[in-house]
Amino acid sequence: MSAENGRAGAERAMENGAAQAAPWWERRAEDVERLIGKYPNSRSAIMGLFWMAQEERGYVSDEDLNWIADKLGLTRGYVDSTITFYSLYHLQPVGKYTIIVCNNVICGLKGSEGLVQELERLLDVKVGGTSADGLFTLQTTGECIAACDGAPALQINQEYFHKVTPERAKLIIERLREGAELEALSEEIGLTKPGAVWEEGD
Ligand code: FES
Repeated sequence: MSAENGRAGAERAMENGAAQAAPWWERRAEDVERLIGKYPNSRSAIMGLFWMAQEERGYVSDEDLNWIADKLGLTRGYVDSTITFYSLYHLQPVGKYTIIVCNNVICGLKGSEGLVQELERLLDVKVGGTSADGLFTLQTTGECIAACDGAPALQINQEYFHKVTPERAKLIIERLREGAELEALSEEIGLTKPGAVWEEGD
């Protein structure tokens, strides 16, 4: 390798390193501007920016929230109150799979409390905790997750599971521990759509 080529390679490596160290909003500046440009009012891009931040490391950091507030011309209080309203955004590191059990009225009547207890037992964590293997974070939400006809329902990352009895919860955890694909699993178990496999009253 010539000295010239060596210098060029070193410069490229430094540029790549610098690019990697740059925050996501710099590396994805075009995506950010495209997202904001979709809306007449830039504040409407707030949810999309939360999502981009979360894609980066699995949760939205304090630094992300400050940047989003500045970028959209919002107060930090407004940004905080918005993100904390939605259970799908995380403000601290979470496991590979975030399980969110709906605790709203219908799911409560259909047994969500027992489901949570079984998940706590299976994962050996309390609600809010992450399992020792780093795979699962268990959360509940008092907000209906819009799956009432499949109550009790839960979400694992973006996937819905309906009519989740404690026995089915055990199967879900076992299969994920075995390395099953999350997207395929909800299909495999047949809990993606209310009533898709299980009869009413299951
Ligand atoms: S009450 Fe649980 S999905 Fe609506």
